[in-house]
Amino acid sequence: VQNQVRNRTSFHFQPQRNWLNDPNAPMYYKGFYHLFYQHNPLAPEFNRKIIWGHSVSQDMVNWIQLPPAFSPSESYDINSCWSGSATILPDGKPVILYTGIDDQERREDRSQVTVLAVPKDVSDPLLREWIKPKQKPVMVPPEDVLHYCFRDPTTAWLGPDGKWRVLIGAKERDTRRGVALLYHSTDECAQWERHPEPLLVAQANEMLECVDFFPVKLAGKEGVDTSVNNASVRHVLKVSFEEQIGGKDCYVIGTYCSETDRFVPDSELTYTSADLRYDHGWFYASKSFFDSAKNRRINWGWVVETDSREDDFEKGWAGLLALPRQMWLDTSGKRLMQWPIQEINYLRTRHVSFHNRQLEGRSMFEITGITAAQADVEVTFDLPVLEHNARIRDSTHIADAVLFNYGNSLGCVYGPFGLLALASNDLSEQTAIFFKIIRRGNGYSVIMGIDENRSSLRDNVQKIPHGTFLDVDPRHEKISLRCLIDHSIIESYGAGGRNVITSRVYPKLAIGEAAKLYAFNNGTKGVTISSLDAWSMRNAQINTNAI
Ligand code: FRU
Repeated sequence: VQNQVRNRTSFHFQPQRNWLNDPNAPMYYKGFYHLFYQHNPLAPEFNRKIIWGHSVSQDMVNWIQLPPAFSPSESYDINSCWSGSATILPDGKPVILYTGIDDQERREDRSQVTVLAVPKDVSDPLLREWIKPKQKPVMVPPEDVLHYCFRDPTTAWLGPDGKWRVLIGAKERDTRRGVALLYHSTDECAQWERHPEPLLVAQANEMLECVDFFPVKLAGKEGVDTSVNNASVRHVLKVSFEEQIGGKDCYVIGTYCSETDRFVPDSELTYTSADLRYDHGWFYASKSFFDSAKNRRINWGWVVETDSREDDFEKGWAGLLALPRQMWLDTSGKRLMQWPIQEINYLRTRHVSFHNRQLEGRSMFEITGITAAQADVEVTFDLPVLEHNARIRDSTHIADAVLFNYGNSLGCVYGPFGLLALASNDLSEQTAIFFKIIRRGNGYSVIMGIDENRSSLRDNVQKIPHGTFLDVDPRHEKISLRCLIDHSIIESYGAGGRNVITSRVYPKLAIGEAAKLYAFNNGTKGVTISSLDAWSMRNAQINTNAI
């Protein structure tokens, strides 16, 4: 099998070939889901002429490729059409605000500006053609922010005063603080005026990329339109911190008052590991939208390649989007929950299942009967009573690298146990998605991790451990895991979507039919698999058809 074939995914969104980064302007319009994306159509690498790729779908699983929506053409966007968002106006018409990179000769002189585009023909449900203004962008960077740090307009929302609002991520010139600038419009996004106060000032000297701001209901999984604000919702503000390894999508939950335009977050927005993150693996520059067809909020995020540039050229493609994830507020009110949209389940085919199977300490067994390279696995682990364990070392102050790797150096109460995905016959390749239960403070903590170290025999790929504390109390709750395995990506959802880790792996041997899946327990004590369901996944039609 050729390299480019074997690591190519089967049900994750990507263009037919070449480069993809951020998802842009997702929306639902006249029966179609629209997805735009940052795209270099000429090579599998980022370049200085990024365009907007465009695809449509009726189920967000199978996609049809359309002609690009925006390409550099005017003085204000001649050096790239960067990220932006869609807003559906009250009359049902969509508009898009995106970032233009202007025509200054020297790269460092170029400004980032905000461009307004409208559909040429609103009766076309595919929105194939867009009109850009001839002359002017609708916003240029104000004096007090860096002209190269002013980008990624959010979806606009309507306040009770009839004015539209939008956020632009920026970095202050003097303080170097990351800020989310707020703008107002009285004429449906055509002209904008800056509000004196930013909506958020981050506790980090970093540009805030791809800001997202939206309401979530206090209870239930239903989503609401971006302009909704009342006593039954709270607000989420997400930013992407690029300078962190691989990039981090961090968020805060807070209260937004439309009258005063003040947002008061429950916690500070920083990028340390204790923060609220959408995903503790490779996942960046995400953007959500309200799906009015099914009343839910859905988030799309970019997953980078972690192999080499040479590999990308050999494969002929680089960059994926994670599966679309429905998002809602956890019953604790303290975090978001995420789960792949239910339409993904249509791809499930061959099924194996069992219940109450003992997984002894230092043992493993193969899960057979499915295509392990292209699978959806749901498993629940049950631990015997925890109270009688002897006290072990308190690990409150241990570094992330020690906590989250796949060893047992901590003296785990249980584990590591979990799944070994994309494993080769001789186990020389394997990716462990694992849990470890450690004693921490007065209670027990569950570590969820993925270790990429043995994921590939090739050495020119990044292999790092990813991990986080899973937000469950193992004394009272079972530990559940869902893994979506798709050749070179594994998305792992812990505890029903309370914590998510996305991993990239590039096996050399564990490809196609040769890939295997195991349940394992490297701990000393046995655990019970109370249930396991695994499915082979069908191929989705992803941009293989074009209009
Ligand atoms: C995030 C980002 C955005 C920018 C775009 C350019 O990955 O850097 O801030 O608009 O990508 O492609």
